[in-house]
Amino acid sequence: MKKKTIEDLNVQGKKVLLRVDFNVPMQDGVITDDNRIRQALPTIEYLLEENARLILFSHLGRVKTADDLLSNSLAPVANRLSELIHKPVQFINKTRGPELEAAVEALKPGSLLMFENTRFEDLDGNKESKNNPELGSYWASLGDVFVNDAFGTAHRAHASNVGIASHLDSAAGFLMEKELRYIGDAVDNPDRPFIAILGGAKVSDKIGVIENLIKKADKILIGGGMAYTFMKALGYPIGLSICEYDKLILAKELIEKGNGKIVLPVDVIVSTEFKADSPHHVASYKDINDNEMGMDVGPKTIELFKKELRGAKTVVWNGPLGVFEFENFSHGTRSICEILAHLDGA
Ligand code: 3PG
Repeated sequence: MKKKTIEDLNVQGKKVLLRVDFNVPMQDGVITDDNRIRQALPTIEYLLEENARLILFSHLGRVKTADDLLSNSLAPVANRLSELIHKPVQFINKTRGPELEAAVEALKPGSLLMFENTRFEDLDGNKESKNNPELGSYWASLGDVFVNDAFGTAHRAHASNVGIASHLDSAAGFLMEKELRYIGDAVDNPDRPFIAILGGAKVSDKIGVIENLIKKADKILIGGGMAYTFMKALGYPIGLSICEYDKLILAKELIEKGNGKIVLPVDVIVSTEFKADSPHHVASYKDINDNEMGMDVGPKTIELFKKELRGAKTVVWNGPLGVFEFENFSHGTRSICEILAHLDGA
């Protein structure tokens, strides 16, 4: 499937709206991993070299209350980007309004600005996340063309991607193009066995993906927060683990449809608190206590997933298998990285 890319756009002197996914992990205002920023550099550098007037924006975290504003500001991200591209990045701490509009108008070809976290608009009626038409149209009015390089957010229909794209000539950035090429080849025409690994918190985020993969993959290994919805659907105790109670029936249906393809954790690392340094231990999937929550997959699960992955020729992986931001609960995710790195012939 051929997609329009930035190389198909004339961006010389144009105001280019560039949606990136700079949803980087942060701790106390400090970026703990800048990989997502680095991944977008080829697109940013190309657009600057082509003398675009570049307007960058992203979401960061989830913004639900006014307290989230401070901890989810993109200001540290703008600073880090500036260090990486060795250029000033003007940061506008607003998502709309005269200051932003004036800064956009004043942009010189080959220079850039970044505006504040698009999800700040969620404080007022979830305008970003619900793809409020007025918001998408407003942001579109700031630019001449739209480039979407936020692959990590491409499964969301938000004002900052779908909303803007419905108003402007739009194209994929280099990162988006690369990811689509890899995933398209892998999923549409996989060498078999084809194993999918799914993690992350929510089943609801990935229903379409799971339904699609059930038809195409030979096995689907499920870890991370979403595993507990499946485990609960099968009647196992999950204590305080994250669970989408309104998706239990769906989870059960997916397991049935999978007809043995879906593989769930057989043990997990549990803790009584959601904290980096909370005491933790291994529990069988049958023995999670009422006051405990699953934070990572356990050693037997890692072995089981390793066995399932042996001989795989195609592997697609989405989402962490535990709370990997906390060192103590990153082992499952890291172990899968290591297993995949040593998987011959995949
Ligand atoms: C991610 O980190 O998965 C993407 O940036 C999307 O974030 P979200 O799950 O908060 O929409």
